[in-house]
Amino acid sequence: MKLIAPSILSADFARLGEEIKTVEQAGADIIHLDIMDGRYVPNITIGIPVVESLRPLTNLPFDAHLMIVEPEKYVPDFIKAGCNMISFHMDACIHSHRLVDYIKSQGVKAGVVLNPATPVNTLEEIIYFVDYVLVMSVNPGFGGQKFIPETLHKIRKLKRLMEETGRTDILIEIDGGIKESNISQVSAEGVNIFVAGSSIFKAEDPAQAVRNLKQKAISVEV
Ligand code: DX5
Ligand code: ZN
Repeated sequence: MKLIAPSILSADFARLGEEIKTVEQAGADIIHLDIMDGRYVPNITIGIPVVESLRPLTNLPFDAHLMIVEPEKYVPDFIKAGCNMISFHMDACIHSHRLVDYIKSQGVKAGVVLNPATPVNTLEEIIYFVDYVLVMSVNPGFGGQKFIPETLHKIRKLKRLMEETGRTDILIEIDGGIKESNISQVSAEGVNIFVAGSSIFKAEDPAQAVRNLKQKAISVEV
């Protein structure tokens, strides 16, 4: 499965609704929402009211990437606001298993996120419970950064862990620096969900960018 998830972090915030409609019509599969609190990462973005106002504008699933400390405090509100997938950073949360369990109990897909320096082995126990793993290929906090190529090794390690634990059904999401020139290579490693912010919304033609990314991701489907 190969899915394109435009990150609205790089969209025009004064025209968020239109930007979402554009990528939806171009065949985007998921809308990726970067939630930053200025504490877990050195940036502040959007919160629950914005997610609520965007919800009626599209039928696409909302994928909330929580870059916030104590995500457990806000997850119920993000679920109420209409998020269909929620991921959080385990080092921002004391009881990760409890939070994953709660997210799933609400009928929402649960994911955990690995920063560039977070080893795959931190997933050894939680892997039995999650629906997806979000692998950061840049340091979280900002759009428009350069893809860290060593992330490809990490994806291979993650695939190995998935096989060892019998969780080959887990979806792998990648986030950071994904563009037309590297998406095929990343896709060939077995990644399923491709977050792309600047390479879509800063492109001259965002709809065409979505179509190109999708076609390149699919071209290596095994
Ligand atoms: C970074 C965010 C990303 C970001 C990706 O902290 O998690 O989702 O928007 O932006 P690009 O695709 O521009 O690297
Ligand atoms: Zn993100």
